[in-house]
Amino acid sequence: MNHSYPVLIQAHQLQLCYSTALSAQTIFKDLTFSLPASQQLALLGRSGSGKTTLLHACAGLLPVTSGELTVCGYPLHQLGEAERTAFRRAHIGLVFQQFNLIPTLTVMENLQFVCAMNGQSTAANKLHTLLDQLGIADKHASFPGQLSGGEQQRVAVARALAHKPSLVLADEPTGNLDLDNARQVIELLVAACRESQAGLILVTHSSELPARLDSVARLEQGSLVMTTGE
Ligand SMILES: Nc1ncnc2c1ncn2[C@@H]1O[C@H](COP(=O)(O)OP(=O)(O)OP(=O)(O)O)[C@@H](O)[C@H]1O
Ligand SMILES: [Mg+2]
Repeated sequence: MNHSYPVLIQAHQLQLCYSTALSAQTIFKDLTFSLPASQQLALLGRSGSGKTTLLHACAGLLPVTSGELTVCGYPLHQLGEAERTAFRRAHIGLVFQQFNLIPTLTVMENLQFVCAMNGQSTAANKLHTLLDQLGIADKHASFPGQLSGGEQQRVAVARALAHKPSLVLADEPTGNLDLDNARQVIELLVAACRESQAGLILVTHSSELPARLDSVARLEQGSLVMTTGE
């Protein structure tokens, strides 16, 4: 895919709050950073530092409170919920710690479902190629419950990539896996994103896994501190 924007993410004085009728909690007050196109970034930070919050904002799941957040050329701070949903379906691939596969659909049907949701009729042979890349082509007719944890997470990676997103946001995708499986899934995720020139933000608690990515950043007291890769 040839991306027409020079930067993947541009945040300027970004403020993100969670508010309910009773309270409001500010997570980021003045966050400014940018991420070049096709960049692969590992995002670290202690529990509660706002990693998931930032990913959700970049996915258009959480509205911007103030400041600017432009992702893949889309000014999310100017868009309403319906437009952010359309943006997410077209441009974002999400991988979660829990695999979130649909248990009543086979592996192939899980991929076809997300493509259909995104208005694409991706040919079955393209999806087979993707499953093959991830080493699970022989599982295409299996149901998620018939797969190991590592295999399920590879299906979740395939599902995130099936509609050719510009940016993949992975929130501790290996938190449920042993170290060997975690390494394998990260290697496959990194390789698959490189192959399709998609950017990647990988939230991880593992100090070993980020070595495979272009750069590493840490969230500390509401700021994003680049620790390598700049
Ligand atoms: N839906 C929500 N409503 C209100 N506050 C929230 C909500 N989600 C998260 N928070 C608060 O925002 C802060 C940041 O949470 P977040 O989930 O982004 O942290 P995190 O860095 O992903 O942590 P972890 O490593 O434990 O997953 C926390 O103080 C949390 O309590
Ligand atoms: Mg989190």
